[in-house]
Amino acid sequence: MEIIRTVKNLRKELTPLREFGKTISLVPTMGYFHEGHLSLMDIARKSSDIVVVSLFVNPIQFSPNEDLERYPHDFERDEQLAEERGVDIIFYPDVKEMYPEPFYTYVSTEELSRVLCGASRPIHFRGVTTIVAKLFNIVQPDIAVFGQKDAQQAIIIKQMVKDLNFPIKIIIAPIIREKDGLAMSSRNKYLSTEERKQAPTICKALTRAHEEVRLGNKNAKEIEDLIREIISRACLAQIEYVEIVDDSTLDKVEQIKPGTIVTVAVFFGKTRLIDNVILLKE
Ligand code: PAJ
Repeated sequence: MEIIRTVKNLRKELTPLREFGKTISLVPTMGYFHEGHLSLMDIARKSSDIVVVSLFVNPIQFSPNEDLERYPHDFERDEQLAEERGVDIIFYPDVKEMYPEPFYTYVSTEELSRVLCGASRPIHFRGVTTIVAKLFNIVQPDIAVFGQKDAQQAIIIKQMVKDLNFPIKIIIAPIIREKDGLAMSSRNKYLSTEERKQAPTICKALTRAHEEVRLGNKNAKEIEDLIREIISRACLAQIEYVEIVDDSTLDKVEQIKPGTIVTVAVFFGKTRLIDNVILLKE
């Protein structure tokens, strides 16, 4: 496995491979790998000849009041885990390499980036689409793999790829969870012991709601109320939103149909956790 730190060297490495007809997949990450990240690498490994993982904590997707400074990192551990999963190249640029001054151009998915998580994180998705578009242009992968864990991000990236004609197949991988149901996240590390104990209530509420929908209740308002009620039983939980939305427009729905997504953001103390479930998926 190679660690490459500049765009120029990455291009030098990938161009001949592409000319020899090798297929390339890209897994964009911000590091501090857990099984969620590693599952994306496994999918990439199975889907292409060359697996590139980018590791870059992208400053432009964090607001000044967010956790950019304390975002967890451990490059040596990440390097070892990626190697074990058969990754070929880690692209590990610094901020100057990705945003040489001056930098003017941003990619925005407009309305899609203003709802749900975008309502409380106004610059977040513009930062995500800008860095992902840059990575797509730098790596020019055939395939890119993202996680369903970040449902809005996945929908936004699929829309960006369509709108801007990126010739890239996007694979969305299922959510990997801890044994007690908590969706894996680099940010789970911030939870106190008591918060960690209560956090699986989010997944429990989503599972219970999904069961209710399977039993025949298609009324979004009732399902939303049920989720709020279950999460609120955890005394440390502060709900930011519970929304039931269309899986491509992110518009709220009244009647649940296959593919409708329930998506939630909940604070435990200062830690903001997100989770979601796709309803009635075959
Ligand atoms: P990061 O939070 O590091 O996540 C990298 C990828 O791992 C994303 O596609 C995310 O959805 C996926 N992922 C995280 N937790 C997961 C889980 N429990 N199960 C399955 N997949 C999971 O998302 C980002 O980084 C950034 O916004 C990025 C796309 C790299 C742009 O900076």
